[in-house]
Amino acid sequence: PPPDAALDAMRPVLPADLMDRASTFDPAPRLAALSAAGPIHKIEHNDEPLWLVTSQDAARALLSDPRMSADRYKVKRLRDKLDPEMRDKFAAAESRSGSFITTDPPEHTRYRRLLARQFTMRRMRALTEQIEQIVAAKIDAMIAAGPPADLIRDFALPVPSLVICELLGVPVADRGHFQDDTIELLDMATDLEGLIEVGTRMHRYMWGLVQVKRANREDDLLSELAHTSDMSDDEMVGLANLLLIAGHETTTNMLGLGVLALLDHPGQLAALREDPDGLMDTAVEEMLRYLSIVDTGIVRYALEEVRIGGVTIEEGDTVMCSVIAANRDPAECPAPDEFRIDRPRTRHLSLGHGVHQCLGNELARIEMSVAFRELLRRLPGLRLAVPAEEVHVRTTSTIFGVKHLPITWDVP
Ligand code: HEM
Repeated sequence: PPPDAALDAMRPVLPADLMDRASTFDPAPRLAALSAAGPIHKIEHNDEPLWLVTSQDAARALLSDPRMSADRYKVKRLRDKLDPEMRDKFAAAESRSGSFITTDPPEHTRYRRLLARQFTMRRMRALTEQIEQIVAAKIDAMIAAGPPADLIRDFALPVPSLVICELLGVPVADRGHFQDDTIELLDMATDLEGLIEVGTRMHRYMWGLVQVKRANREDDLLSELAHTSDMSDDEMVGLANLLLIAGHETTTNMLGLGVLALLDHPGQLAALREDPDGLMDTAVEEMLRYLSIVDTGIVRYALEEVRIGGVTIEEGDTVMCSVIAANRDPAECPAPDEFRIDRPRTRHLSLGHGVHQCLGNELARIEMSVAFRELLRRLPGLRLAVPAEEVHVRTTSTIFGVKHLPITWDVP
């Protein structure tokens, strides 16, 4: 069966005048105007009732409300809208098994408990060392080849892919294929057929990997789940795919756009280079907030009528949290349009909120700090290799990103 990830192609999308960014990093003028007018807005789009949430408080209230479901199939009207063949394919239990991002408690709670046991201090320490090695090896290769480089192709795509390989226990010999397929999976974000093809291949690979882990217990997450939990093969495959999908494109774009934001703010870049130990933690939080890459990706479905912020969300309505709008909420964050790497910690929505809050948040933060620290330390004079206008950011898919980032640096 095709992976649930293919469903992303059917997620609600906003009209372009709400998605496009005003400048590289700032929200669209129409979105900024909506945010200024109130916390929740009914958008008429594709004849579907869609509520857009633009304040931090309202988003948090809805994301911790058990009446808001992460599972679109619980809403009959949305189920009925799908083409029957697609519906049978996608709604099939085995194609969604283990992909707990679209489940609600108590089903969801069981998965989170099983996984929480896996993200131990010991495993995070081991992963940190592996991340340091992966990052060092990719920078070594860029330096050996000499400038210019494409930071996305040469660094931001492979690093998260290799980290997921470490987490899942993908054998070294398989990592080349694994990376090619994951990169293809990301590249196809809008082409459903291609997505299904590479997704099916990846599904088959994960299936084989689970069998290997069942046969030999090694020191990785899949082995541990295979030998210490009651997860079925289908569930483990779905889970492995979810970790891959959730952990790859997000981290790739945080690394790419994080560097782009620093290059766009030379004073901040200089300060971070000067004092990485003192500033890295707040810098990473500020990048998460400022870039808001999971722009329109947090979506819920009302299982009952919900009254909030002066509006009534009807049963079956779709609610989308605008991560960028909520992260620029002036009630939460003073001068929200400014990028300040020493900003005192403010609440942001970039890693979600409530029961679905990002499972990989700690891992993602480690990847970012190690990556930014080493890039700045080892690539003196890091800068764009093309005029800034030639860097194209992508605003039309669920994840805000950058596909190529040509960089150069000083060679001693
Ligand atoms: C959930 C963002 C990295 C695994 C989420 C959610 C957000 C998010 C916003 C909530 C989605 C929702 O509520 O519908 C990010 C960002 C990342 C990142 C911005 C990079 C900086 C990772 C990594 C992993 C990961 C590295 C794993 C290795 C997950 C999983 C969920 C999730 C499994 C679902 C949790 C659940 O449903 O309980 N992430 N993520 N993420 N993330 Fe991340």
